[in-house]
Amino acid sequence: MKFFVDTADTAEIRDLAETGLLDGVTTNPSLIHKAGRNFLEVVREICGIVAGPVSAEVVATDHKEMMREAGILRKIADNIAVKVPLTVDGLKTCKALTGEGTMVNVTLCFTANQALLAAKAGATFISPFVGRLDDIGTEGMQLISEIRLIYDNYDFATEILVASVRHPIHVLEAAKIGADVMTAPPAVIRQLFNHPLTDRGLEAFLADWQKTGQSIG
Ligand code: E4P
Repeated sequence: MKFFVDTADTAEIRDLAETGLLDGVTTNPSLIHKAGRNFLEVVREICGIVAGPVSAEVVATDHKEMMREAGILRKIADNIAVKVPLTVDGLKTCKALTGEGTMVNVTLCFTANQALLAAKAGATFISPFVGRLDDIGTEGMQLISEIRLIYDNYDFATEILVASVRHPIHVLEAAKIGADVMTAPPAVIRQLFNHPLTDRGLEAFLADWQKTGQSIG
């Protein structure tokens, strides 16, 4: 499973990229607002840090204007994935852009039928928001299982990008279902590395090693 980080904080992205485990980045208008920086400038910087797909979202709601904005975004770098909302105009834009060889991430997906439409529109990624579904009392991960089944039934190449990930259990469940990608905030990705028994075990090994009086090399 590919790991994307869901942030526009370039210091966090640099730090996680150094692990060698980061495959891409997703941003959205709210994350750009949080970063407090110029949109095009921050996206350009992110594309220089990570070689994999970097999602940058259009803010227009009609097809023509979405295409104009996408034209600006895709010129930033070859690894831009233009993010469009799951609307009629968004999917029209998706079809046009992927037809021209641009990666497209279709965002704000909340049903399997929406995911089916995105795949038919040739989306590179579909982003179902599991956390926001959990928030309204439904089981977000159930949607991932449904999309996996449908995409496998028809051999769709669209990658399932599990979004709105809130905790490590979401990551684990997404991996068990066979999602292609997950995007999570930096703090959730960091949580994946940790276990108290790892810390305690390492502490004990190092204490015993010191008692041997030896050094390596
Ligand atoms: C994904 O591309 C979205 O930016 C993100 O995962 C949304 O997460 P949220 O529901 O925590 O805002």
